[in-house]
Amino acid sequence: MAMTEIRTPRLLLRRAKANDLDAIHAVLSNPGAMLYWSTPPHDGIDQTREWLTGMIESPPSLSEDFVIERDGQAIGKVGAWRLPDFGYILHPDHWGAGLATEAVTAFLTHAFARPDIDYLTADIDPRNAGSIRLLTKLGFRETGRAARTWHTHIGWCDSVYFRLDKPPNRSG
Ligand SMILES: CC(C)(COP(=O)(O)OP(=O)(O)OC[C@H]1O[C@@H](n2cnc3c(N)ncnc32)[C@H](O)[C@@H]1OP(=O)(O)O)[C@@H](O)C(=O)NCCC(=O)NCCS
Repeated sequence: MAMTEIRTPRLLLRRAKANDLDAIHAVLSNPGAMLYWSTPPHDGIDQTREWLTGMIESPPSLSEDFVIERDGQAIGKVGAWRLPDFGYILHPDHWGAGLATEAVTAFLTHAFARPDIDYLTADIDPRNAGSIRLLTKLGFRETGRAARTWHTHIGWCDSVYFRLDKPPNRSG
């Protein structure tokens, strides 16, 4: 059985639950946080409820997806709804404090402990400087690019693909 809670110095990474709805909606409806996401900001709570249900019901065999909690409050998410591709988002109130670095680092250690995971990937908008900086800093390398991969509220968006192989000393 996969571990379902991860503690870092400032954060708790845990499975999503139904009463995260309002806090997660505050993140997924935030225009700043959603600027380079693969969908526009959520405009109704029902859209977030559906998204959260998908996260809650995602089978652990295919998924490693976590709500990020700080001081008892859900502030974002990190993880893979479908491994090995993962993503992360924090409410802008919590940006610029190293929290994404902290959350993603913990997620990587957890995901690479799985014997069935040899690498992780991420799909990032080339304009998303913060996200690219975060991944590069953690050792991810660009594997390719593609144009017009997502159509969102800001129009057609491109992708830069990143990959990190499991460090050889972490065999699971
Ligand atoms: C990307 C995101 C998670 C970063 O969160 P964060 O907690 O502010 O990140 P950190 O503080 O850990 O910073 C990570 C690195 O990126 C840099 N960085 C963060 N935001 C940046 C920005 N807008 N421009 C340039 N660099 C930035 C930081 O300086 C840091 O690098 P450093 O250690 O060399 O100084 C946050 O901005 C976010 O939620 N964005 C919206 C969602 C999103 O786009 N997700 C990516 C798609 S999967």
